[in-house]
Amino acid sequence: MKKFFLAPSILSADFARLGKDTKKVIDAGGDWIHFDVMDNHYVPNLTMGPMILKSLRDYNITVPIDVHLMVKPVDNLIPQFAKAGANFITFHPEATDHVDRTLNLIKENGCKAGLAFNPSTSLNFLDYVMHKLDLILLMSVNPGFSSQSFLPSTFNKLREVSKKIELNSSNILLEVDGGVKLDNIAEIAFSGANVFVIGSALFGHTNYDIIIKKIREELKYVNSRFIH
Ligand code: DX5
Ligand code: ZN
Repeated sequence: MKKFFLAPSILSADFARLGKDTKKVIDAGGDWIHFDVMDNHYVPNLTMGPMILKSLRDYNITVPIDVHLMVKPVDNLIPQFAKAGANFITFHPEATDHVDRTLNLIKENGCKAGLAFNPSTSLNFLDYVMHKLDLILLMSVNPGFSSQSFLPSTFNKLREVSKKIELNSSNILLEVDGGVKLDNIAEIAFSGANVFVIGSALFGHTNYDIIIKKIREELKYVNSRFIH
């Protein structure tokens, strides 16, 4: 059985009740929390910093927190997010001058390291650093906003990365971010993803239990097809 992880993106949560809404989505079955950090420089939007992550930890949110840094520069925020309670820290390779050094910094701060690829970013950035990665994030929309449509070019890219991971016989997680919904999650999983960021398609519903249950059913179907 392939293990799949759901990572609700709290960018689409109710910010006036962030702690409560985050707990609600975890109680409904979310595995991780996807935490989108935007700086109005690398991407044209401004969201949350380490202080908010720390507040969620203080509010007793104990699941893994998957920090997606859409910021430039990257390095000075890494120790701050690690200290605030991040588990995974993922950054965009174009946003730092020294990808290898930034990966080392994440590890030195006790977190798992991820590299994020925009729809047009070449996978060449994986060369020479694969062995340092715990996670590869493929953006299936251009970064900056929730509620955008999934770009179909992601399917081939997922298959490509999935093959690379297999060839390395490594257990790097393959995460997909942007436009993931009930009606495309199975195809995304068939293409090789095992971590799914879900923002608007989840928080847009009043009953998170129902939607997560339906998503799990889709993933169960994928698993049944993998076995036979
Ligand atoms: C986009 C963010 C995503 C976003 C996903 O730049 O990185 O994590 O919150 O939202 P949906 O699922 O609505 O596309
Ligand atoms: Zn994200």
